[in-house]
Amino acid sequence: MVDDPNLLVGLERADDAGVYKLSDELAIIQTIDFITPIVDDPYTFGQIAAANALSDVYAMGGRPLTAMNVVCFPIKSQDLSVLTEILRGGWDKLWEAGATLVGGHSIDDDELKYGLSVTGVIHPLKIITKDGAEVGDKLLLTKPVGTGLVSTALKGGVAGEESLEQVSSSMTALNKVASELMLEAGAHACTDITGFGLLGHASGMVEDSRLGMEIRVSSIPIFPEVKEFANMGLVPGGTQRNREYRSDMIEMTSEISDEMLNILFDPQTSGGLLIAVPGKEAEALLQNLHRHGINEAAIIGEILAEPQGRIIVRE
Ligand code: CO
Ligand code: CO
Ligand code: CO
Repeated sequence: MVDDPNLLVGLERADDAGVYKLSDELAIIQTIDFITPIVDDPYTFGQIAAANALSDVYAMGGRPLTAMNVVCFPIKSQDLSVLTEILRGGWDKLWEAGATLVGGHSIDDDELKYGLSVTGVIHPLKIITKDGAEVGDKLLLTKPVGTGLVSTALKGGVAGEESLEQVSSSMTALNKVASELMLEAGAHACTDITGFGLLGHASGMVEDSRLGMEIRVSSIPIFPEVKEFANMGLVPGGTQRNREYRSDMIEMTSEISDEMLNILFDPQTSGGLLIAVPGKEAEALLQNLHRHGINEAAIIGEILAEPQGRIIVRE
């Protein structure tokens, strides 16, 4: 492989997206994400898939510019109007993001999937990666967790209309404003919470570093009913894999139930940003997020000097 000095963030440091420098003032951010339907309504699903795909650009502190649709559609078994609605949902989110759809690609596939490849821009010296946190930083989470448990409960016919509405409005919400506010606040590090779950992505912030992390479970925003669903064992397939993958990085100082661990490792779709911000800026950023309607945002922990490369989880 050729070492390209313009590749600022690439495979080696696998962050939320790749970043490539074009000039001293400009770098492009590239990312792609596509998912299988997580809700029944096609328009809502399109919005969620687009918000989810755009999120990696926001996690880096970038501004999305252009996007291309990625579509796998069962052309023989599903009505084309479903696809029209999905694409309309994606289009509306791109419009809200201020990004332009420039094309796309679709194939016939037994299982429906939709997402986008997104290109964004950023100043090469202002990239927010997941590994830039410093001792004394506070950790802010901008959306509640539990979308995987709720969608499993929906498929099982257990979740009610209210749960569906709450997770849908959260998953369709862009991380745009949160990203802009974290930049204003001088955030040191950020990642968005998706498939690896809250603790999985949090682990990525301290992995192989001289930093430790503490997370307080009682401060974490969780969607209503999620604890019930976890108690009922409505755990999505990816949770156990997430737990096993990061188990050696987690230290529990108090009684954390197995059900709670399933929530903390619940795979998220279009989850919030996990932001490391200087301690003295944390409260102001939190208030600012709330003032901009990001009401569930909370300070859930902090960056410590110990234990290096590990996370302390306490009640
Ligand atoms: Co990401
Ligand atoms: Co991603
Ligand atoms: Co990042």
